[in-house]
Amino acid sequence: MENIKAIRGFDDIFFEEAKKFRYITDTFRKLFEVYNFEEIILPIVEYKELFDRSVGEITDIVQKEMFVFEDKSKRVLALRPEGTAGVVRSVVEHGLLYKKPFLKLFYEGPMFRYERPQSGRKRQFHQIGCEVLGLDNPTTDFEIINLCFDAFKKLNIDITLEINSIGCPVCRPKYREALTNYLKDIEGLCKDCEERRFKNPLRVLDCKVETCKDLTKEAPMMLDYLCEECSNHYKSLKTYLDSFGIPYKENPCLVRGLDYYTKTVFEFVKDNLTLLAGGRYDNLVESLGGPKTPAVGFAAGIERIMLFLKSQYKEDLYAVVYIENTVLEALKVVNILREKGKRVELISKGSNLKKKLEIADKLGASYTLIIGPEELQKGVYILKNMSTKEQKEIRDLGSLVNV
Ligand code: HAM
Repeated sequence: MENIKAIRGFDDIFFEEAKKFRYITDTFRKLFEVYNFEEIILPIVEYKELFDRSVGEITDIVQKEMFVFEDKSKRVLALRPEGTAGVVRSVVEHGLLYKKPFLKLFYEGPMFRYERPQSGRKRQFHQIGCEVLGLDNPTTDFEIINLCFDAFKKLNIDITLEINSIGCPVCRPKYREALTNYLKDIEGLCKDCEERRFKNPLRVLDCKVETCKDLTKEAPMMLDYLCEECSNHYKSLKTYLDSFGIPYKENPCLVRGLDYYTKTVFEFVKDNLTLLAGGRYDNLVESLGGPKTPAVGFAAGIERIMLFLKSQYKEDLYAVVYIENTVLEALKVVNILREKGKRVELISKGSNLKKKLEIADKLGASYTLIIGPEELQKGVYILKNMSTKEQKEIRDLGSLVNV
């Protein structure tokens, strides 16, 4: 019988990678704390209709990438492809907007999209993100971009911030018309863009196919069509970014693949891969049945950030090796070192000292503490530096704090 394997695009995350994963979520969580966000924990399965009505029926996510199924009661459900729709659904359902002057919520968890799996693109992936509901001032857009900037600084990842404004229902229809007019006579677009140019023309602008990029170089740009309100909002955001030295690149082709956005959109990009993305969506709450509420948020792709994160093992590993009948002393030493906050492994495997030292080495121990009957009688331990192979006798475990 063949062994059962994980489903394609659904990865197991372990060892060093799991450590990186937690380091990333801890970094964002600490920032959410100081920026005064509260956590919201949401279901993974929602009615499919929620995503039709928020992400948008003619987006790739809804048309091609959702995991949709019928449950035993014939309800049409979907594994959530993203978190924003669920947050807004929950906020409206529980009337949360009436309980506070505004809401600042963060979430974390698995998302699902049926994409072609490759490095940084999975069918189950994890996001950590946040949504601010009830604030329309560009200071909010600035603050959440600032939070992302802080996060990448703490993660020590050098990254490019791209921004754009995609307007609002006042100015976008005029722009959409101008763009559709421009695109209607263009020949040589890719198969997807042939369809998009009438159904979702803005998406043609961020097509990754080179010929499409070339063909849209001269296309009208949204920034030239912004109404006064959107234009002022965008200008203020740029002023704040400039004032606080946050470098950014204006990308007039940045339009995002979800339909709910208005005004500000942004992405943090590294080596052509978007690690984090977000924007403002001032009409989504209302369109899902809530009161008219401006909103802005982002989501970071944890697996994508992991690709650029350096190793997370900062603490030296201490191996404790014992020979003959010194196991109780070894267990005591292990306890004492752990109490001091050291990362410690008791080596109980291996039939002799040589084998035990080999195991300690394979585990990546920086130091090994050897406990034997002779040493015990003398009241000492042997401390071996595993990289220099130097050995010395120590009397007091307290001195290990400074090795
Ligand atoms: P999104 O751009 O669809 O936006 O996804 C956000 C991030 O999730 C991406 O930048 C990427 O890092 C990661 N991601 C997306 N798809 C995959 C995949 N197949 N494999 C690995 N990582 C992936 C949203 O989801 C919006 N809800 C963000 C938002 C929140 N906007 C406002 N609030």
